[in-house]
Amino acid sequence: MTTTDVKAYGTGAPDADLSQMTIKRRDVNPKDVEIAILYCGVCHSDLHFARNDWGMTQYPVVPGHEIVGKVTRVGNEVSKYNIGDIVAVGCLVDSCRSCNNCKNDLEQYCPEWVGTYGGYDKFLNAPTHGGYSQGIVVDEDFVLRVPENLDLAGIAPVLCAGITTWSPLRHWNVNEHSKVAVVGLGGLGHMAIKLAHALGAQVTLFSRSPNKTQNAIDLGADNVIISTNETEMEQAAGQFDLIIDTVPYVHDLNPYIGTLNTNGTLVVVGYLGPLDPMLVTVPMIMGRKSVAGSLIGGIAETQELLDFCGKHNITSEVEVINIQDINSAYERMLKSDVHYRFVIDMNSL
Ligand SMILES: NC(=O)c1ccc[n+]([C@@H]2O[C@H](COP(=O)([O-])OP(=O)(O)OC[C@H]3O[C@@H](n4cnc5c(N)ncnc54)[C@H](OP(=O)(O)O)[C@@H]3O)[C@@H](O)[C@H]2O)c1
Ligand SMILES: [Zn+2]
Ligand SMILES: [Zn+2]
Repeated sequence: MTTTDVKAYGTGAPDADLSQMTIKRRDVNPKDVEIAILYCGVCHSDLHFARNDWGMTQYPVVPGHEIVGKVTRVGNEVSKYNIGDIVAVGCLVDSCRSCNNCKNDLEQYCPEWVGTYGGYDKFLNAPTHGGYSQGIVVDEDFVLRVPENLDLAGIAPVLCAGITTWSPLRHWNVNEHSKVAVVGLGGLGHMAIKLAHALGAQVTLFSRSPNKTQNAIDLGADNVIISTNETEMEQAAGQFDLIIDTVPYVHDLNPYIGTLNTNGTLVVVGYLGPLDPMLVTVPMIMGRKSVAGSLIGGIAETQELLDFCGKHNITSEVEVINIQDINSAYERMLKSDVHYRFVIDMNSL
């Protein structure tokens, strides 16, 4: 198959900085859309993947799954998009399309889902590469429409940070009667606050960082609890219907379970791996409380969120950077020094 060389930024080893490289994109198949990338958000998952935190990275890796760009070419069977359209691509670029999850718009739970990076491109017979690049070729069924009224850099993080928090908010039916808490004010956390607030819920932030209190209120939180303060944690007992935990590293979930109401759910979206310390089942049994997980969201649900953001004028709080700043951005992300999402201006590549 013919391929196109494009400039990208990636890494060949877990301990190496990201640097410029050239990657191949497949030619445009009949159902494919070729996109010139304008902006790409920087997710903590990009850092986990580049540094092989999850033990599954194949190198070289080109991260990036919060992509906004302009259509430059379309295959002859493409019906949804035209050259010049502003479109987006999130964490998924393909799936089997025939399993029950695919049929139910839950492509993210398809056993054969293809990640935007670190997946497998069956046409190229090679790993997929993400949005830290000039362009990408994606099947139109995995391309999303961007509302015209929104800032293009600000909308990019909706494609992962937004949908990852929106999907549990919708699954657990959050509405104006709900009490929702969010653990960790980073990329995912700040979108969770904005979206839960827009759904009418009463929103609380759990944070280790007292200096983020005013920001959280400005984003739509009604209350902030400093998670290291035992008195504040005890005072929050039995309150929340849903807690969305975005913390990227192993931490004790038990104190948060105490703050759930009867039938409440703590949904972990941040940390992937065994818990330490272990969960104590007593408060779960005594209050029919659940601990759950959730992975991004399907294509239809992501479009629903983009449209909701358009209607409610919601975008992410972003710090736009040049691609050459990506390594220092990763270091700042590790120090929780992001307000609240880095987005790369891909013109800098
Ligand atoms: N499930 C999914 O589908 C999915 C999708 C996207 C991302 N993720 C994962 O979600 C996690 C969060 O991503 P992100 O991009 O939002 O990260 P981020 O911007 O770095 O934010 C994480 C926040 O968690 C808190 N935090 C960081 N380290 C902590 C620690 N050791 N203990 C307690 N709190 C800590 C900090 O908030 P405070 O300063 O307020 O405490 C920090 O701002 C990552 O692990 C990412 O891989 C999962
Ligand atoms: Zn992500
Ligand atoms: Zn499937």
